[in-house]
Amino acid sequence: MSATLDGRELILGVTGSIAAYKAVYLLRELTRAGARVSVCLSEHAREFVGPLTFRTLSGRPVLTDLFDPQSDAAVEHVALAERAAAVVIAPATANLLAKAAAGIADDFLTTLLLAARCPVVMAPAMDGGMWQHPAVVDNVATLRGRGVTVLEPDTGALASGLSARGRLPEADVIVDAVLAALTPQRDLAGERVVVTAGPTREPIDPVRYISNRSSGRMGYALASAAARRGAHVTLVSGPTALTPPPAATFVPVQTAEEMREAVLQHTGAAGIVIKAAAVADYRVRRPAEQKIKGKRDLTLDLTPNPDILAEVAARSTGAFIVGFAAETNDVVANARAKLEAKGIDLLVANDVSRRDIGFDAEDNEVLLIDRWGGSRALPRMGKPAVAEAILDAILALRAAHPARKAVR
Ligand code: PMT
Repeated sequence: MSATLDGRELILGVTGSIAAYKAVYLLRELTRAGARVSVCLSEHAREFVGPLTFRTLSGRPVLTDLFDPQSDAAVEHVALAERAAAVVIAPATANLLAKAAAGIADDFLTTLLLAARCPVVMAPAMDGGMWQHPAVVDNVATLRGRGVTVLEPDTGALASGLSARGRLPEADVIVDAVLAALTPQRDLAGERVVVTAGPTREPIDPVRYISNRSSGRMGYALASAAARRGAHVTLVSGPTALTPPPAATFVPVQTAEEMREAVLQHTGAAGIVIKAAAVADYRVRRPAEQKIKGKRDLTLDLTPNPDILAEVAARSTGAFIVGFAAETNDVVANARAKLEAKGIDLLVANDVSRRDIGFDAEDNEVLLIDRWGGSRALPRMGKPAVAEAILDAILALRAAHPARKAVR
């Protein structure tokens, strides 16, 4: 990244993880990039690394808990948060993420976070199991929805001895994230984007349904990223356990037919439509009105659901239309055939036979296939990073093919 941190006032918050010692290297990299850094240590961080190291490297007093009612320092330090260009929390523990998501201000660092009006970057570090805990997943989604940059931890050996996702990202990755947060991308400003996410539920009777394993993470990551980049986002979502990005207009649906209705209603003015939802291909023709009794064979009469993506593409007069392809074999050939059959601009193919990507996974590894013959494989990344790369690809393809509308 070419931008610089020259003269920028930063606050580096350090919380109580074994990775706290790495914040010393990060401080060195931030100051090398020209930033003036005030370090704030949580009580537990001080158990891992002493304030003197940070004080020596930053050339400034280290901020610690100062809820001393006699002291002006607390007020002064909140003023410092208000003046800061960015707050960086590295490492950010699960506890810090939870408190920040809930707006709890019970120590200096969390109080400072509530006072800050600037971009906030959090670099989590924790045990792999903790990173995947639904509470942590929800807290991260809440923070990202509010515009906080929460980086994906790296995968590798953890303090527990296990190898998993949970390591503090490298210092240069965090510095790049701070630079990006200070120069936010607004390349979708004014654009209307419709994103679909999650599964659909097709009722069998009042208590049972046909569905799939989609968690909604891929679609929610796309909606968050597009909103952060300035778009007016409508998120049409099947049932998930996620918190929708507050900046998006949220349209919850259950069935494929409800999703079709919502999508067609909102795509009229859209410039970009992205269908990451895992729509059930079939529904029960006549769901039972009463709960079906067990203990006997049951045959379901299934009928195909409408192909929403193909219908949106056929009706569209100019939107850039993106579909996803969930494939388990012959990914490239099947995805190219799907791109052509649906008449869309870009297809994002993922191999859903793998457990580490695709359905209900933190990461994805996708192949981008466009209708001009191009294709590009992206490496395995966290879904937020995949979402950013998909948006970059959409904008690049749209710029490269301005006469696109006439071709469809
Ligand atoms: O939600 P996550 O847990 O994060 O998982 C992400 C994901 C695996 C669900 C996502 O990456 C993905 O692959 N989404 C598409 C899943 C799917 O339904 O694929 P498909 O190959 O069956 O459908 C192709 C495209 O047509 C999709 O864009 C789908 O939204 C659309 N479709 C499918 C059927 C239908 N009746 N109407 C549609 O619009």
